Amino acid sequence: MTMSSEPIRFTDGAGYDRFMGVWSRLAGQGFLSWIAPQPGLRWLDVGCGNGAFTQLIAEQSAPLSLVGIDPSDAQLNFARQHPLLQNVEFVNADAMALPFPDAAFDFAVMPLVIFFVPEPARGVAEMARVVAPGGTVAAYAWDMEGGGFPYRDVTETLSAVGRPTPMPPSLEASRLEVLRDLWATAGLGDIETRVIAVERTFPDFEDFWSTLLGGPSAGQALAAMNEEERSGFRALLRARLQAAGSGPITLPARAHAIRGTVPGP
Ligand SMILES: C[S@@+](CC[C@H](N)C(=O)[O-])C[C@H]1O[C@@H](n2cnc3c(N)ncnc32)[C@H](O)[C@@H]1O
Repeated sequence: MTMSSEPIRFTDGAGYDRFMGVWSRLAGQGFLSWIAPQPGLRWLDVGCGNGAFTQLIAEQSAPLSLVGIDPSDAQLNFARQHPLLQNVEFVNADAMALPFPDAAFDFAVMPLVIFFVPEPARGVAEMARVVAPGGTVAAYAWDMEGGGFPYRDVTETLSAVGRPTPMPPSLEASRLEVLRDLWATAGLGDIETRVIAVERTFPDFEDFWSTLLGGPSAGQALAAMNEEERSGFRALLRARLQAAGSGPITLPARAHAIRGTVPGP
């Protein structure tokens, strides 16, 4: 995969929701069923973004309290508008320096974020610090290097036309063996991993294309093209995704998930 050195910008919570939030909830549903949390816990959602996964915690896990942190105000402002998230505390912060005391939470999650953290080990150590003994630190991340990214067809086609897609800085952190090392190095025990496979169907190519245009990542690469380049690229992508010419488009994606327990009490 060819990469651009341009950072991914999260400047539009609604565009993010169509582009990635829908995918996050699809994988997040499998993740939540797997981690099967007890009700009444103090939750921290690290890199909560626009609240895509936070919604699932609020709806399904009966939290005692729920805090989401993210460095993007555009994402946080979208999350703050969501009717289900009115009791959630959203804080602008970085995963590598969580603004909370030790042992303040029972459950910390990092949904689709670890590869965005410049020093993933610091992020995992911070989650282990703020979770109380006996609590859980868990995450899921697209299998970026193994072909699990939902828009792989788009990034490959962009590379083919010399327009690399902006990518997160710590892609290797999505490998299962790297995740296991990170969790072990942070002193977490009872480490378990899982692969979560999902599919999403777009009603037609138009819907798929407008989803791309409004999103970060591949959307940024498309925004940098002139009209002629964009329409040439659109035709190439359509030919790749819709050999039959029309109709719905179903795409697969695959995430790596991990969970571990803070030792003690
Ligand atoms: C792919 S989005 C995931 C958002 C949400 N968790 C979800 O599941 O849809 C990645 C998020 O990580 C956030 N992020 C980037 N760098 C971060 C960091 N150092 N600490 C915490 N969050 C970060 C971005 O602002 C963005 O909202």
